[in-house]
Amino acid sequence: MKHTATTSSLRWTAFAILAAAITTFTGCDKKSDTQSANSQGGGKKLTVGFSQVGAESDWRVAETKSIKDEAAKRGVELKFNDAEGKVENQLTAIRSFIAQGVDAIILAPKVETGWEPVLKEAKAAKIPVILVDRGISVSDDSLFATLIASDFVAEGKLAAEWLAKKTGGKAKIIELEGSPGAAPAIDRKKGFAAGIAAFPEMKIIAAQSGDFETGKGKEVTETLLQQHGKDVTAIYAHNDNMALGAIEAIKAAGKKPGQDIIVLSIDGVKSAFQAMVKGELNCTVECNPLLGPAAFDAVEKALKGDKLDKKTIVQDRVFDQSSAAAELPNRKY
Ligand code: AHR
Repeated sequence: MKHTATTSSLRWTAFAILAAAITTFTGCDKKSDTQSANSQGGGKKLTVGFSQVGAESDWRVAETKSIKDEAAKRGVELKFNDAEGKVENQLTAIRSFIAQGVDAIILAPKVETGWEPVLKEAKAAKIPVILVDRGISVSDDSLFATLIASDFVAEGKLAAEWLAKKTGGKAKIIELEGSPGAAPAIDRKKGFAAGIAAFPEMKIIAAQSGDFETGKGKEVTETLLQQHGKDVTAIYAHNDNMALGAIEAIKAAGKKPGQDIIVLSIDGVKSAFQAMVKGELNCTVECNPLLGPAAFDAVEKALKGDKLDKKTIVQDRVFDQSSAAAELPNRKY
């Protein structure tokens, strides 16, 4: 027994030395795999700053949750800042993340322009910046690692195509625009205009910003209905929340949303599906806000020095009243 135990303990010692050597040279034991995913060596927990535009819509709330949930799942320490719709607050938050020495920054930028100086500061501090949901306009695209977003121009075109089909190419449209200067406001307008261009009897008779918010969507629609109420046959909103506000305004004006006035929008949030099931919203073009997993994959790749595509396009779909009820139970946001 003694001999066996000694032999066995010698064998274990040899095995342990070999295993330690393999680990030292390859660095690929289970623990270091986990460490490389969650930290930058030295066992340090990854710290990521997330600068969010605000909480103006159901979509944005879902995006925030997706990023917070994914950080928690991966054991990442997330420094979260809600800019309450103000670009200045986003700039302050990013500078504070840099000062705190975060490993990476996730940025959902409110507008397209004005980011160069702060992104240069992040680059000088060697902090990769991952853009989620909205693109920016910079002369040097090395200022950000990657952009993960939907194709907003395509979304606008899909909305226009749906409306052209529904109306036989005849509509007098109110357009509820998103926040001025924001990529989805600019691109969804561009895409929709391109989509209706082939139909001379589809005309935008009024357009105004509702800032992606339900309350402002309602307010703006009330005013525009007072001015153009007799003519309007359709309302195209750059997001679901403004469309939900418009539905309230149409009802207040004594008309039936979804029947007297066609209402279509973009996002595909649960409340939009409920409105379609009720017959009040006609169509929504999906824009997926569940960007957390892709954002943190990108963070990890950037920190490992892996090459990232400059843009990853999230695939979206079109839903209308004919598909809403079947899809509603599947909606995750
Ligand atoms: O950038 C995405 C847009 O921003 C969503 O359509 C909207 O709901 C949000 O606030």
